[in-house]
Amino acid sequence: MQIQLETQPYSSLEADALVTYVFDRDDKFGGVLADINVAMGGRLSALAASGELTGNALELVLIHFPQGLAAQRLLLVGAGKPGKFVTSDLRKIVGTALRHLKSRGVKKLVFLTREGEQGPAAAQAVVEGLVTADFETDKYRTEKKNREIQSVSLAGFDSGLGANLTAAIDHGSVMGESRNFARDLINEPSNRLTPRILAAKAEVMAKEVGLGIEILDERKIAELKMGALLGVAQGSVEPPRVIVLRYVPEHERPGGPVLGLVGKAVTFDTGGISIKPANNMEKMKYDMGGGGTMLGAMRALAFLKPSVSVIAVIPSTENMPGGRAQKPGDVQVAMSGKTIEIINTDAEGRLILADGITYARKLGCTHLIDAATLTGAIEVALANVHVGAFGTPREYLDKFLESAKAAGENMWPMPIDEEYEEMIKSHIADIRNTGSGKGGGASTGAWFIKEFAEDTPWIHLDIASTCWVDEGRPWLAKGPTGVAIRSIVDFALKL
Ligand code: BES
Ligand code: ZN
Ligand code: ZN
Repeated sequence: MQIQLETQPYSSLEADALVTYVFDRDDKFGGVLADINVAMGGRLSALAASGELTGNALELVLIHFPQGLAAQRLLLVGAGKPGKFVTSDLRKIVGTALRHLKSRGVKKLVFLTREGEQGPAAAQAVVEGLVTADFETDKYRTEKKNREIQSVSLAGFDSGLGANLTAAIDHGSVMGESRNFARDLINEPSNRLTPRILAAKAEVMAKEVGLGIEILDERKIAELKMGALLGVAQGSVEPPRVIVLRYVPEHERPGGPVLGLVGKAVTFDTGGISIKPANNMEKMKYDMGGGGTMLGAMRALAFLKPSVSVIAVIPSTENMPGGRAQKPGDVQVAMSGKTIEIINTDAEGRLILADGITYARKLGCTHLIDAATLTGAIEVALANVHVGAFGTPREYLDKFLESAKAAGENMWPMPIDEEYEEMIKSHIADIRNTGSGKGGGASTGAWFIKEFAEDTPWIHLDIASTCWVDEGRPWLAKGPTGVAIRSIVDFALKL
């Protein structure tokens, strides 16, 4: 899909469709829509009077052969009440339009922005929305629908802004493409994405975008005494890997903050000896979603160049019930030296994160964010609406939540009070890998990880219920969402 800025008058642009948006207010047809309405002999007013065109959020009205326009179709997308509208809503508006028109065989479209949304922020949101919406999960279908949006022209933007506008368009496409890079990984089946393959793909990406990369193999992992990761990996014939990516800013500040991004990358989670039920087990290919998220974020940061150093540490393994698999009751010694009583082998994510976080701190990370498809409990709490966000100190978490808000991603602060610590105490070892007592599964999981972050400012994002959606959205294909990447990137750029 090619995206370009257009300076010709929108009405003369030949395309399969021209897309613009309508607010839900009494005077719907102001500015550029007034001109379109006049050229169409007042047909838009008539549609509004009949109740077919209201401007309700994401309502679609498709008009064929619109008078006065060179485009074959006019698609009007509802933008909701103007008081509630924010620029980032443009992502959903263009995404919804793109998916609607793509399914109807449209190849070439023009997006016409409205008064007040003609600057770089709007252009960035539009481009990001288009690229994200264009992603499909039909990679392994031999009979493709053969529907493709070939080109999108952006009309109505303030071309006087020149370089700012082009930079915003680049930013938008980097974000969209990095998110799609992560989504493609998350969508891969586990026979095509083992820890070794994930590491190889990370290596190709790192070389392409100019990031430093180091892959720790099973020997190096053993040398580093990552006993928690090895405990999970020992049940599989596939060896584990730890992927380490580095971004160093051009003017690195000695003693400045180093952001550590730690992502859970279990390429398949059977549960191990505490095996999962068969129903829905195929979904556990996306248990590397946290690692995919961090790879997507690093790819974006390589282009957007924050002024802080960033290191990603991605422990990757399968969780299998092989003959050598760890068993409930086993005790593992983590890299930090803490001993862990394994109560349930299905609580493996926190084990590999424990060593990932210890290693990130050893590499000098002063601030941490982890992302993981960690618990089913987060779905009980927040459905697929919000990412569960844990963290200490509270100000650090709040700062991150501001980035989530700026990025337009739903995240909700979750509790990790000291009472949860009681629930992971063990009689046999230092800690146990699941909570005793009832409930609070997302919080006990978070507390377990916190034991390894110790006093380093740390955020934990439980994306188990938001990293994958079973039902598509009008602006997003069903499957991998790429959630949290935008917030993490925004946070790194502001740190
Ligand atoms: N990978 C799962 C969590 C998960 C569940 C991700 C559903 C995506 C969708 C994780 O490793 C797990 O199995 N967690 C257990 C922990 C429990 C044994 C304490 C869970 O949530 O049931
Ligand atoms: Zn599990
Ligand atoms: Zn898991």
